[in-house]
Amino acid sequence: MSGTIKKVAVVGAGTMGHGIAEVCAIHGYEVILIDVSDDILRGALEKIKWSLNELATKGLVKEPVDAVLNRVKPTTSYEQARDVDLVIEAVVENTAVKKEVFKRLSEVVKADAVFTTNTSTIPISELANATNRPEKFMGLHFVNPPVLIHFVEIIRGDRTSDESVATVVDFAKSIGFKYVVLKRDVPGFLINRLNARHWTEALRMFEEGLDIRDIDAAQRFRLGFPMGPFELLDFSGIDVGYLALSEMVKRGFSIKLPEVMKKMYEEKRWGMKTGMGFYKYPRPGAYVRPTILPSDRMYDLNPYRMIALVVNEAAWLLRNEIVTKDEVELAMKEAMQWPIGPLTWADRIGVDNVVSILKKRFEETGLDEYRPDPLLEEMVKEDKLGLKSGEGFFKWKYEKRDLGAVVYEKRHDHAVITINRPDKLNALNEAVWEGLRVALEEAEKDPDVRVAILTGSGRAFSAGDDIAMMSKWRTSMDAKAWNDKYATPLIEKMIEFKKPLITLVNGLAFGGGMELNILADIVIASKEAVFAIPETLIGAFPPLASSCGAPLVSKKIIRYALTGEWLSADQCKELGLVDIVVPPDQLEATAAEIVMKLLRASPLGVEAVKSSVAAYRRACKELMRAAVQELVILSSSQDFIEGVKAFIEKRAPTWKGE
Ligand code: NAI
Repeated sequence: MSGTIKKVAVVGAGTMGHGIAEVCAIHGYEVILIDVSDDILRGALEKIKWSLNELATKGLVKEPVDAVLNRVKPTTSYEQARDVDLVIEAVVENTAVKKEVFKRLSEVVKADAVFTTNTSTIPISELANATNRPEKFMGLHFVNPPVLIHFVEIIRGDRTSDESVATVVDFAKSIGFKYVVLKRDVPGFLINRLNARHWTEALRMFEEGLDIRDIDAAQRFRLGFPMGPFELLDFSGIDVGYLALSEMVKRGFSIKLPEVMKKMYEEKRWGMKTGMGFYKYPRPGAYVRPTILPSDRMYDLNPYRMIALVVNEAAWLLRNEIVTKDEVELAMKEAMQWPIGPLTWADRIGVDNVVSILKKRFEETGLDEYRPDPLLEEMVKEDKLGLKSGEGFFKWKYEKRDLGAVVYEKRHDHAVITINRPDKLNALNEAVWEGLRVALEEAEKDPDVRVAILTGSGRAFSAGDDIAMMSKWRTSMDAKAWNDKYATPLIEKMIEFKKPLITLVNGLAFGGGMELNILADIVIASKEAVFAIPETLIGAFPPLASSCGAPLVSKKIIRYALTGEWLSADQCKELGLVDIVVPPDQLEATAAEIVMKLLRASPLGVEAVKSSVAAYRRACKELMRAAVQELVILSSSQDFIEGVKAFIEKRAPTWKGE
């Protein structure tokens, strides 16, 4: 129990009121539960009893159920609340009714008691003015069901005193709830404002013709939420969402209500409660979870649109000093079960990415609600982009080392290794081979780094071995020296690399550039990337793909090693080389997404997978060595010299077969 509060009145014993009363009683408070009829109160007590029994079977209530239940005193008389220390009003969402309730409470309840309202939409100060104690009045907004979601928003009115806020904060702590304190009242407070952006963007995606199951799947299986937006809307009631949003709009919240929501509201397609919403249910009120399965289609849509809108709204709240960053994170994790807070998400996918998504949506729709908040624009200007610059909304461990042709970055918990010869399409010369190996060693020895990402700067991933370098080989000894000093050490490092290695194929991946992916654990490719192993066209051959391509990827790769034909990212996915294909503007976010999935996994489990994988890759080493040997021999042939020369001279080669 809190220091100053011993006795609580909960007014309204409906969906929220009975749950709030139960939570208070569990934590030792004597509760006066007020409603308009004995029947309603009887029903509420039955629900509380049922719920307490449920909790007791799970060991979540320590005392006998009756002892807790006896602390709840049902009554229709406001007089009974005369000596309570705290009032929590949870009557119907109607301003006139609530004002009347507070007027009556003001007449009977002792002067030093604090009054709170669970309203979702009515201005706090307007209700405060209906009481005789506006300085001891504030919003105390619970989340349904309070027995399970232990989180409240505390909302100050214009005249709320610090002392009364402290009292309510103590009370929230005493019932084991986490809380945020909004410094002033804004429509939708914190959680509903952010949810409004999230769900509206989901509805817009649906209106664009995307399948709800794909959107739900993307939210669950890509982003890691327990439910998709449509599952959640159906579960919590489309009527509730629509009415709350409409009220927020009336109070000045700037959003264009999606037509589909209005239509569904009018047609009473309210979700589980009416048996039909976005999904169909066996009968009204009977919940059967819709079947939502992961599929490749979830990579065709951009779930970060929803995240970007939430971040933009959070930025508005921060800029207006209504809540703090930590409060944003806490609220969404605790109340809405976000896997990470929205601001951390922005830092992970890049604040610049968030701004790009918003700008693109603004261009597409012309709607003001997509304009990036000035706070976000400012952050981009100041290079506060998140993990990739060491600071975004939060600070991150960041290091950058220029290894010549390769840039190594430690981004807090993972490394990003970038081949940095954009003007040469990131062709692999000695400096790149060596730089990559050094960077992998760096990543391996840093205990903070749990995943490494390998990518290319500019338009290409890598155009493959640098022909200019190869054209300088005079004898096969030169090729051998190159192999011993540069190629084999990197290949061995990749085989033995102890941490998950992701390649992020941002563009062209040819020859050695394509082959590097054979030794990566997860390959994420841009839809616009092209792949090829065209070495036979210059009188050489791709040694890795030819030797280990079949055992490590698939037999189908042989065709491409022979013909040098180009492949799209989707074809490479069919081949088994690429794991995920996404539109180019989602590449970075998808990498962040996979990093998060890897961070969630047990480090020891990941290590065990990696050491087993290394064992089977190691088994291919002999094959690889023989193939590289073959290349060394081939490099002194007339055809190799002619092929390289013809490539440089941009003409067709003439093969002599010697
Ligand atoms: P409800 O309709 O289930 O319950 C309201 C209760 O208030 C009813 O039992 C009704 O008989 C009683 N009531 C009406 N006039 C009264 C009076 N003059 N004196 C005493 N009791 C009276 O409504 P619900 O959903 O519990 O909502 C209550 C409040 O909580 C609303 O302000 C709502 O906006 C807010 N809220 C609701 C959430 C939800 O998910 N249902 C979530 C968070 C807040």
